[in-house]
Amino acid sequence: MEQNYHPIGVFDSGYGGLTILKSMRERLPQYDYIYLGDNARTPYGSRSYDVVYEYTRQAVMKLFSMGCQLVILACNTASAKALRTIQQNDLPLFDPSRRVLGVIRPSVEKIPQFTKSGHVGVLGTTGTVLSESYPMEIAKITDHRLIVTQEACPMWVPLVENDETNNPAADYFVQKNLGHLFSHDPGIDTVILGCTHYPLLITAIRKFLPANVTLVEQGPIVAESLADYLIRHPEMEIKCSKQGLLRFLTTESAENFAPRASLFLGQPLTAEKVIL
Ligand code: DGL
Repeated sequence: MEQNYHPIGVFDSGYGGLTILKSMRERLPQYDYIYLGDNARTPYGSRSYDVVYEYTRQAVMKLFSMGCQLVILACNTASAKALRTIQQNDLPLFDPSRRVLGVIRPSVEKIPQFTKSGHVGVLGTTGTVLSESYPMEIAKITDHRLIVTQEACPMWVPLVENDETNNPAADYFVQKNLGHLFSHDPGIDTVILGCTHYPLLITAIRKFLPANVTLVEQGPIVAESLADYLIRHPEMEIKCSKQGLLRFLTTESAENFAPRASLFLGQPLTAEKVIL
């Protein structure tokens, strides 16, 4: 491996993290990036803490071994269930100078700017919802001022992973979960897509979301937060290589991954299969 190649690692259980990578590339095109999708083991949303932690740790170690100094967990489930343990237990042992960051904290910090009613809805995987990460983090930064209602949408990630996003099946599940969310709290005026796969269902979501409700997507928020992080951490910024290179890894078939990923990213690409 080239010695000066230190891309920013972007990890997700499958295709969802591409929505984050897309925004990062728009905001910070100068950096090199490696995307890793664990498509062979997706979805993570219904898996236990131990399993999500172990899979995520393996992915992070793979990205470190390929030269990444900084890895973004572009997956809410991994951010909710594995990030803290990796930061507290693994990094100090492996290499304290490397960093792993998640997507929940930056998203939560922006929420108060969007809501007027103080009623917020969070859509996420079962794992993210049960972890209570969003309500806890939102309560911390707003001193319990906001009312947070969560809805787990276990069918949404499989719909995205199986390329079933623009059809009556997708409409059915999206309408069902949004209906559920608003029946619990009709006062919600802001909904956060707390799963990086969900922007890929945006057409169906917009169809069934009440017109007065603000939809918060994580891509631009996480990209802005990364830009800010790199300004505040020049010691990391200087390490990240800047040739605008992009590389894609998947644990499933590279032939399957590349065409779909290029559709999501809006550019042709090739992928490599890796074993974690
Ligand atoms: N993109 C992941 C997230 O943000 C999806 C998790 C899954 O694989 O179920 O939570």
